[in-house]
Amino acid sequence: MAYDDRFMSLAIELAKKGTGAVNPNPLVGAVIVKDGRVIGEGYHKKYGGLHAEREAFASLTEDCTGAEFYVTLEPCCHYGKQPPCTQAIIEHKIAHVYVGSSDPNPLVAGQGIKELEENGILVTSGVKKEDCDRLNPVFFHYITTKTPYVVMKYAMTLDGKIATKTGKSKWISNEASRQRVQEFRHELTGIMAGIGTVLADNPLLTTRLPNGRNPIRIICDSHLNIPLESRLVQTADEIPLFVAMLDKEKYILKDKISKLKEAGAQILYLPEKEGHTDLAALMKELGARGIDGLLLEGGGVLNESMLREGLVDEMRIFVAPKVFGGVSAKTPVTGCGIDEVTEAEEFTLSELERIGNDIYARYVKRR
Ligand SMILES: NC(=O)c1ccc[n+]([C@@H]2O[C@H](COP(=O)([O-])OP(=O)(O)OC[C@H]3O[C@@H](n4cnc5c(N)ncnc54)[C@H](OP(=O)(O)O)[C@@H]3O)[C@@H](O)[C@H]2O)c1
Repeated sequence: MAYDDRFMSLAIELAKKGTGAVNPNPLVGAVIVKDGRVIGEGYHKKYGGLHAEREAFASLTEDCTGAEFYVTLEPCCHYGKQPPCTQAIIEHKIAHVYVGSSDPNPLVAGQGIKELEENGILVTSGVKKEDCDRLNPVFFHYITTKTPYVVMKYAMTLDGKIATKTGKSKWISNEASRQRVQEFRHELTGIMAGIGTVLADNPLLTTRLPNGRNPIRIICDSHLNIPLESRLVQTADEIPLFVAMLDKEKYILKDKISKLKEAGAQILYLPEKEGHTDLAALMKELGARGIDGLLLEGGGVLNESMLREGLVDEMRIFVAPKVFGGVSAKTPVTGCGIDEVTEAEEFTLSELERIGNDIYARYVKRR
């Protein structure tokens, strides 16, 4: 039986509703169809809650024996926080399952589909695969690497500056673009910046969206220069703040460490690499703490280190129709840079949008 694109598109839209609430689980949507009519639909709403498949069965308006089932991700076949979804599909006597993405989770990885087929259910996989895959780059990366998927974000002028020569950066992009950034902060579990940005801008790095989720804030600060009176430290008892410093300085800086801990911050002790915190080690540490995705909000020195270490998976860039000029005005990626064009990290354009007079572009790492 041929599948109907509209039902998978509906499942994708449903999946998106879980944004910011399901991490480190994937976004998943499901639709049950009988005689060309939707008779049930659901999505994974919350980490630890029912999976999309069971949400869809719970919403059924009539018997679904012999129905078709559209699901954006291969159904799970193992016991986690919830029983296997394959079981629910088999018990409900579904005739045909249309699957979008395959699940790279080693506990699933084709086993879900195999189990359905072994129980006499027809399975068609790869339905609107590209669109379904686009829902879950964070999950696909985290489940296989146990380190966060890193999204570098910045706003720059037409001449590629992220601040004026006097260090002013408010505001480069327009209000609608900045609103989009609030959505990214809601979407990703963590947000990371360098101490240079903290000293220059005194940011809060929270989500200013109604019902938005605040990301866990991570500051790369080898020598613990973060001011106790900074807005980050002042809010650390309500909104998690991790400060990553050099392990070898923990005795010299013990008084400051105590004060930061008293304020509610957590300190991450890291090995040294090229005079700074070792970023690959930091990614492992953050992954171990359940941070599956990270919004990297620079500035240029930290951005360059992350790129040079091969730790950036995606770039989201806003270009505003302004020109700042000035040799000393900061650019999005500074640091020591590379020598040869062939050494450059390469990305593929995955989205391009006009937001008022700004341009928004999204690039994913070429693997
Ligand atoms: N327009 C935008 O989208 C945007 C976004 C962010 C920032 N900005 C602007 O960028 C400027 C700040 O940028 P910045 O380049 O001076 O500072 P930065 O990148 O925010 O911070 C750099 C500092 O981070 C620390 N760090 C710790 N571990 C590191 C590592 N492994 N690699 C690199 N650095 C590490 C280093 O100091 P220690 O080693 O001493 O800790 C380094 O000096 C501000 O003017 C801000 O307004 C603009």
